[in-house]
Amino acid sequence: MKFEVYNKKISQIEADIEIIFVVNSNFNHKWIYDREELATLGFKGKDEEAIFLPHVKRVYSAIKDLQSDSIRIGIANALKTICKTKYTSVKIALYTEDNTETNVRALVEGVVLSSYKFDKYKSKKDQLFLEIIKISTEDYEDYNEKTNDIDLIEKTIKEGIIIAEATNDAKEIVNTTPYDMTPEKLAEYSQKLAKTLKNVNCFIGDKKFLKEQKMGAFLAVAKASINEPKLIHLTYKPKNPLKKFVFVGKGLTYDSGGLSLKPSEYMVNMKSDKSGACAAIHIIKVASELNLPFEVHAVIGAAENMIGGNAYKPDDVLISRSGKTIEVRNTDAEGRLVLCDCLDFAQDLKPDYLVDLATLTGACVVALGEYTTGIMGNNNDLEYSFKKSACKSGELTGILPFNKYLTKLLKSEIADISNIANSRYGGAITAGLFLNSFIKEEYKDKWLHLDIAGPAYREKSWGYNQSGASGAGVRMCIYWLKDFINKEKNIVKEDK
Ligand code: BES
Ligand code: ZN
Ligand code: ZN
Repeated sequence: MKFEVYNKKISQIEADIEIIFVVNSNFNHKWIYDREELATLGFKGKDEEAIFLPHVKRVYSAIKDLQSDSIRIGIANALKTICKTKYTSVKIALYTEDNTETNVRALVEGVVLSSYKFDKYKSKKDQLFLEIIKISTEDYEDYNEKTNDIDLIEKTIKEGIIIAEATNDAKEIVNTTPYDMTPEKLAEYSQKLAKTLKNVNCFIGDKKFLKEQKMGAFLAVAKASINEPKLIHLTYKPKNPLKKFVFVGKGLTYDSGGLSLKPSEYMVNMKSDKSGACAAIHIIKVASELNLPFEVHAVIGAAENMIGGNAYKPDDVLISRSGKTIEVRNTDAEGRLVLCDCLDFAQDLKPDYLVDLATLTGACVVALGEYTTGIMGNNNDLEYSFKKSACKSGELTGILPFNKYLTKLLKSEIADISNIANSRYGGAITAGLFLNSFIKEEYKDKWLHLDIAGPAYREKSWGYNQSGASGAGVRMCIYWLKDFINKEKNIVKEDK
């Protein structure tokens, strides 16, 4: 897909199709030509309604406001109406409100994200005819009539493409079957990717390395699989980095539940249990392609949670890398076991900020619904600042609060901690608290846990997301990193 910017009025640009947003059901705007026909066709301009009028070659797509995510969804719905046609070019003007950069980037992201299709395993692949998106600098409200700067728009388009393509790449890896994406394949993918990126290195730790590192919890989860576990460590290091970020990703290439086996309906889609890992890998890709001024690491625990004579068992006691002992009471709570060792490893890298991404609990989906990521941690300012950045990216988040009463539920009679809580309630938070017990005092305030179990993978499409993987985590973390460039000033204060 190519994007071209024109310093011309939208009416002066040649293209097969024109896309017009109907904002907040306002049909009085000068760009809406076909009012009577739209009324005859029953088009009310309700949010997410879109219609293609072939004889005038116009698409009308309704959006509720000019917020950046409305723009993403609006363009996605517009393109859906013409995706089967053979037209190759569309034109659209700017709908920037007061923020040109954010909304131009959103427009581009909406186009690229919504044009992804997972067809790796289809014998017949649909052809996409659309090639060019022409953008006019003419603005919906004449907000920036004189100030819409072509260079800035072009730079922003490039950024949007980089962010959305990396998100699509993350989707592709998550969607790939467990047979085709074992821990070893994920490691190979990461190594190959690192070779194509500037300032990026990749280290792969095998089983021997995990043993040397005394990662007893991680190793236990991987024991029953014929596919060996891998620790993948990607590093992006530009010259004179301003800060150091470490992203830790849960990379369960399959989660059968282990001996605490999942019922069949719950096992389907567990190829998506590597979503946190895929997000972390592609955050590195974007960091490098955008030349972010930070050192960024991705530490990934890749393993398969399987059954077999050699499987780890409920009743086992594991010795984690930190030395803390863990009573296993449920082998399906495996993500936290892999992550606690990876988080311990990650703290040795002395990060300024430490973030883990994981499809950790079904309880998080129950708490927040399928579209929302759970944010947890010990630092309210950090949680809110992350939430604010995530909001711009279009990813939905909700903060789940820790408390000392829930912490007590992880007590074990025979080891330092149990891998599950002894209550049916608060499962997302108790999983977060389990991880928290592996965060050293000096990193407590620098750590965020993101439970992406809901949005990472859905079998129904929503907004600009297709059925299947959504690439959850990539965009929100990148927007958060980008906000760090000019920030620390505008953190939302909240009492602890
Ligand atoms: N990978 C699952 C969590 C999950 C559930 C991800 C649904 C995506 C969608 C995780 O390993 C798991 O099985 N968690 C258990 C924890 C329980 C045993 C304490 C769960 O959520 O049921
Ligand atoms: Zn599990
Ligand atoms: Zn899992």
